[in-house]
Amino acid sequence: MNDQASTLRYLATATINKTMPDTQLLTTIRETAPRTTRQTRCLAITGGKGGVGKSNLALNLAFELGALGNHVSLLDADFGLANIDLLCGVSPKFHLGHVISSLKDLEDIRISLTERVSLIPGGSGVEELTKISVNTHPHIFEKLRVLEEEADFMVIDTAAGIAESVVSVLISATEVIVVATPEPTSIVDAYATIKIVLRYAPAKPISIVVNNVVGIGDAEQVFQSLNSAVQNFLGHRIEFLGMIPNDSHIPEAVREQIPLVQLSPDAPSSRAIRLIAKQLFSHKQKDTGLKEVKSFWDMLAQN
Ligand SMILES: Nc1ncnc2c1ncn2[C@@H]1O[C@H](COP(=O)(O)OP(=O)(O)O)[C@@H](O)[C@H]1O
Ligand SMILES: [Mg+2]
Repeated sequence: MNDQASTLRYLATATINKTMPDTQLLTTIRETAPRTTRQTRCLAITGGKGGVGKSNLALNLAFELGALGNHVSLLDADFGLANIDLLCGVSPKFHLGHVISSLKDLEDIRISLTERVSLIPGGSGVEELTKISVNTHPHIFEKLRVLEEEADFMVIDTAAGIAESVVSVLISATEVIVVATPEPTSIVDAYATIKIVLRYAPAKPISIVVNNVVGIGDAEQVFQSLNSAVQNFLGHRIEFLGMIPNDSHIPEAVREQIPLVQLSPDAPSSRAIRLIAKQLFSHKQKDTGLKEVKSFWDMLAQN
């Protein structure tokens, strides 16, 4: 997406033939306008531990960001247990791995979930991308960059754990969202994930979603313990992004294979995820201090 200010600057200075028909004018503007730094926000959803609600948050957050008018690419980057497809009742036949081995085109693997939200099944492809280089596979990266530029948000569901390939995905994203539950094991794993992300990407914006809470006190406690450990031991700030209550509508949606926010839009958990989407949407992307903003995919190949 183009940066609004620089597009306006371009329009103010460009010599555009005012007699052109509107459609031709638009095409000319689009094709000749300078490419600005990337505006696509890549949100990696992690948590360290399995079963904390990462995939459900990724899927439903993508839908809610879409409902706010954004174009969203949902990347299933859980190499081990890719299951976003199961959560929304689609059966992808191909994944990014097939694109990398040139068996399929990106358009063949992408599945439209709504008018604005599409699913990109990662399969083994995401891990493969961490091992190949932009120089040896320039055409793949070019296609991936185009795909990324079409979206306002890329929501990335990641695998549990802190394997090298998972960490590569996390540090390549523009923002990391850590899902934690009130269970002590989840809090410890969330902390371990934050620590490793900050080791490789000290300026990465990190926010916390507390899932499966029974009362507001739960969410406060989880965030406070994580925040004080991160501040005291790692000298970094993390943000509270939101909480999701324990809600039987979530397992019901999983069983029905229909996204929660579609099946039960007024359920407490749906409302909570809607608030998280609004919160993300209203906050401008944090300045990571990077002068040159690179594509997620280029970062992935580099990291
Ligand atoms: N807030 C919640 N309330 C009730 N059940 C939940 C909640 N969040 C997740 N679950 C259940 O936990 C299970 C694991 O969720 P999932 O999103 O697949 O976790 P992960 O991707 O972290 O492994 C699912 O079966 C889901 O129904
Ligand atoms: Mg999952």
